[in-house]
Amino acid sequence: MSRSAHPAGPRHADVLPEGHYSAPPADLNTLDPKVWARTVGRDERGVVTVGGLGVDALAEEFGTPAYFLDETDFRARCRAWAEAFGKDADVFYAGKAFLSRAVVRWLKEEGLNLDVCSGGELSTALSAGMPAERIAFHGNNKSEEEIRRAVEVGVGRIVLDSFQEIVRVAHIAQSLGKRQRVQIRVTVGVEAHTHEFIATAHEDQKFGIALAGGQAAEAVRRALKLDGLELIGIHSHIGSQIFDMAGFEVSARRVVQLLAEVRDEHGVELPEIDLGGGLGIAYTSEDDPREPHEIAKALSEIVTRECEAAGLRTPRISVEPGRAIVGPTAFTLYRVGTVKPLEGLRTYVSVDGGMSDNIRTALYDAEYSVSLVSRTSEAEPMLSRVVGKHCESGDIVVRDAFLPSDLAPGDLIAVPATGAYCRSMASNYNHALRPPVVAVRDGEARVIVRRETEEDLLRLDVG
Ligand code: LLP
Repeated sequence: MSRSAHPAGPRHADVLPEGHYSAPPADLNTLDPKVWARTVGRDERGVVTVGGLGVDALAEEFGTPAYFLDETDFRARCRAWAEAFGKDADVFYAGKAFLSRAVVRWLKEEGLNLDVCSGGELSTALSAGMPAERIAFHGNNKSEEEIRRAVEVGVGRIVLDSFQEIVRVAHIAQSLGKRQRVQIRVTVGVEAHTHEFIATAHEDQKFGIALAGGQAAEAVRRALKLDGLELIGIHSHIGSQIFDMAGFEVSARRVVQLLAEVRDEHGVELPEIDLGGGLGIAYTSEDDPREPHEIAKALSEIVTRECEAAGLRTPRISVEPGRAIVGPTAFTLYRVGTVKPLEGLRTYVSVDGGMSDNIRTALYDAEYSVSLVSRTSEAEPMLSRVVGKHCESGDIVVRDAFLPSDLAPGDLIAVPATGAYCRSMASNYNHALRPPVVAVRDGEARVIVRRETEEDLLRLDVG
């Protein structure tokens, strides 16, 4: 499991827990398949390839920094999730992890549904032809315009997040002469074992309606009364980068208990439950994520068992993996600009990107691994910190990692597992130009999100 944050916060996180990275890996040239996308390897020259293309040629053609996304891997992961959950369940890819029109088309072709959480994500989905009924609309403060558009186009479900929203969505749907399918998002009082900034199911936070104190039951009561709403189920999302299924078990049990209460009070068996996303991936070799079929089996066993005990028909289950699908499929390619050894401490390796293309290290104290990819090296390992080119010392991409001691300006290094929440949280800090996303498949590379240009920046600045 990933190391959690240093209790004193990210600024103190260079105090490594005992045993952590105490020894360099046996061979720095080895690429651990756990953290690298499926088609990544090294060619006879020692250059890392993806989809059969060398990173040297890719850097030449597309520049650095750039995200390279292995389309074969992305599609395989979609299929694995769809097959694992089967026809009695629905997999919604969480678009917040990374969304583009190409991604929407792949999802559509591979039979997945899509979870969006803003008008921007909705319009990306629609513009790439995702059928509205396969879209779920999330968010704790959807605007009236967003709700109206979602209802008008006919999204498959809106996930209601507050008492105000129950009334708001009902009102808008009714004014449009529609009945909107909705779920109610509840907080089940589970805090998943993960970084506190991204844990969401405990009660002291902004999402959902608490099961505690009968609040969720009251929300159901109100929703069932409103003509504009068709309440199809209950939603719960317990956090991010979770490896331990115990949190899902508690969450499923509590949601099923609510379904039983709803049946007892209203004589209605709600047909669906959504257990959210949050399944962890390997950022370093120390992480041990579960396969989709194990997750599907565990979740469906829990729900079936709890429903049998409560005398309920088993509802249709849905899940919303984002990171677990796209995270491992991409790496960020950087060119080394400077190499600065600090005697007795570590070597600072500056690359041509930084916190503008990967904020996760600075924000969550996230861990990543890194490899030299433009060649192999037999040089001794050196303890390194990969940093960006931004004007602040917290601009760290990889906090602690070993790179070969002959690393030099001009070398290409790559950080794997950056498919999720890196491009989608990228910024223009210091007027950085956000890097492109290049999809690679079977020896072909194509830009799916182009690199920003200075003209793009100036276009927004109206002077
Ligand atoms: N469903 C709901 C309702 C969510 O809020 C989220 C993530 C997901 C699904 C997808 O979670 P995933 O499977 O991707 O973990 N920026 C943070 C993650 C924030 C996640 C927010 N909600 C990060 O970089 O780790």
